[in-house]
Amino acid sequence: MTTSVMLPDNPTLDEYKKRLAELSERGVTEFARAANADELEAARIEFLGDQRGKLREFQIVLGKLPKEARPEAGRLFNAAKARLTDALELRRQEIAKLGDDSTTRPADLTMPARRSWRGAKHPVTLVIEEIEGIFRELGFTIAIGPEAETEWYNFGALNFPPNHPAMDLHDTLYLSGEGLLRTHTSPVQIRTLQRYAPPIRVLIPGRVYRRDFFDPSHAPAFEQIEGLCIDEGISFVDLKATLTRFANRFFGQRPTRFRPSFFPFTEPSAEMDVQCGVCGGQGCGVCKQTGWVEILGSGMVHPAVLEAAGVDSERYSGWAFGMGPGRIAISRYGIPDIRILYDSDVRFLEQISE
Ligand code: DAH
Repeated sequence: MTTSVMLPDNPTLDEYKKRLAELSERGVTEFARAANADELEAARIEFLGDQRGKLREFQIVLGKLPKEARPEAGRLFNAAKARLTDALELRRQEIAKLGDDSTTRPADLTMPARRSWRGAKHPVTLVIEEIEGIFRELGFTIAIGPEAETEWYNFGALNFPPNHPAMDLHDTLYLSGEGLLRTHTSPVQIRTLQRYAPPIRVLIPGRVYRRDFFDPSHAPAFEQIEGLCIDEGISFVDLKATLTRFANRFFGQRPTRFRPSFFPFTEPSAEMDVQCGVCGGQGCGVCKQTGWVEILGSGMVHPAVLEAAGVDSERYSGWAFGMGPGRIAISRYGIPDIRILYDSDVRFLEQISE
């Protein structure tokens, strides 16, 4: 606030000029000093206000000046008013700009730093690693085999009859010349049995290929995990106990069931289901109203498979299974479309792995 510029009721022209100059000087200073729009408005009312503004006094006194002094005083009054109005407008623009420009605001030291992205494991990798961990505890070791296979390892040694429909060009990707891309991880059973003598307990993760086009539930390349247990005196009880133990560890205490099935390389064969985790067995869209979700195929290894791999089927027996960790990841994380797993979108990986 400025001290009021006292103007006598009947000033001389000199007095009027002097006071008017003082007033406009003060007003210009006050406007420039205003830190924000509210302060500027208060200063405007003080100097240029219609009712009680300081300049208003000078307008009133103008009429009381001697007649010959009025023209000059009037010019000076108008000049002072224009100067104040210009100063006000200038500051108004400056303040508007200040408000927009964040660089003039002080830094907010409480603002959290940007988190750095350090990468994350793919959901299918997370599932594979968890499954491997559970089977390691049960005495299994990890084995791998080639993705480019021969027909014999992929089909023949696994007791597929010649010309089985799975060998059709519509299902299997054949390589030029000899060989094919393995359609499952089961050929690694043969390779393991050829290389190691029982007792054998192996878990075989790996990528497999089929002649499928991408759609919400199919992909031409996907992961499988094969399991194989061969020793003397192994029975279906071992299969059931081990796989039930695994399911309880992986899915929690959800009920499981075995359904009779068929695979050329196992006899008998069974598919294993776990109760649907979404509806708890009531039936919903995820489990197609059955209350169950299939998690793997399994069975007692067919004697013909043992013999093809050079293992004495009179002495040894065993069981095997195969499952799709991609399918399991999809139901575990509620992923609506399998293709998301192939997008390499790091924002998706970040959501799941943290
Ligand atoms: N190889 C089968 C497939 O790709 C899965 C499978 C089923 C593997 C039963 C097994 C088994 O070892 O015993 O569909």
